[in-house]
Amino acid sequence: MTVIDVVEGDITRLRVDAVVNAAKPSLLGGGGVDGAIHRAGGHEILAACELLRATTLPEGLTVGAAVATTAGRLPSRTVIHTVGPRYSQDEDRSAQLRAAYTRSLAVADAVGARTVAFPLISGGAYGWPRADAVRQAVAAITAAKTDVEVVTLVAYDGETTALMRRALG
Ligand code: APR
Repeated sequence: MTVIDVVEGDITRLRVDAVVNAAKPSLLGGGGVDGAIHRAGGHEILAACELLRATTLPEGLTVGAAVATTAGRLPSRTVIHTVGPRYSQDEDRSAQLRAAYTRSLAVADAVGARTVAFPLISGGAYGWPRADAVRQAVAAITAAKTDVEVVTLVAYDGETTALMRRALG
């Protein structure tokens, strides 16, 4: 059984087996939580992403896919990079959003991570309405078949914390 808990704060400070990054397809860093993870983790993470681009992922990471790298100087062991979909009013991309969670958990299983922290994927620059982004996160994690024991949903503000707590009942 996977326990889901909620923490408010900076995901880069958490000591967990794996921290999930809301990356962009290029994997080469950006703003938001992506920028924070690369800044706090240091150059080792970018170097690992560049190596992936030069070898197994020449086109970058597709939406809903996930891949692990070192966590550099972060207190966690691993960073799992995933790409959420941009929110669209014309197209339902919620399956891709749930896939970002499910496939991140599959990568966590592959690297033996038992504690995993997620930011609210697509809930910032990618424009997903927060309440629904939280619902999709909880639905995907709850339905996942995984050996991960504790999933921590990390909120960066009080409103998101309240949405997460409500979604978990
Ligand atoms: N810790 C935890 N959560 C954070 C942190 C942090 N240090 N920084 C930002 N967040 C929160 C935001 O408040 C938001 O709720 O993470 C959530 C996701 O926001 P974004 O980082 O903007 O991610 P996303 O919407 O998936 O967009 C991804 O933005 O920065 C670029 O390179 C990134 O292109 C990619 C895109």
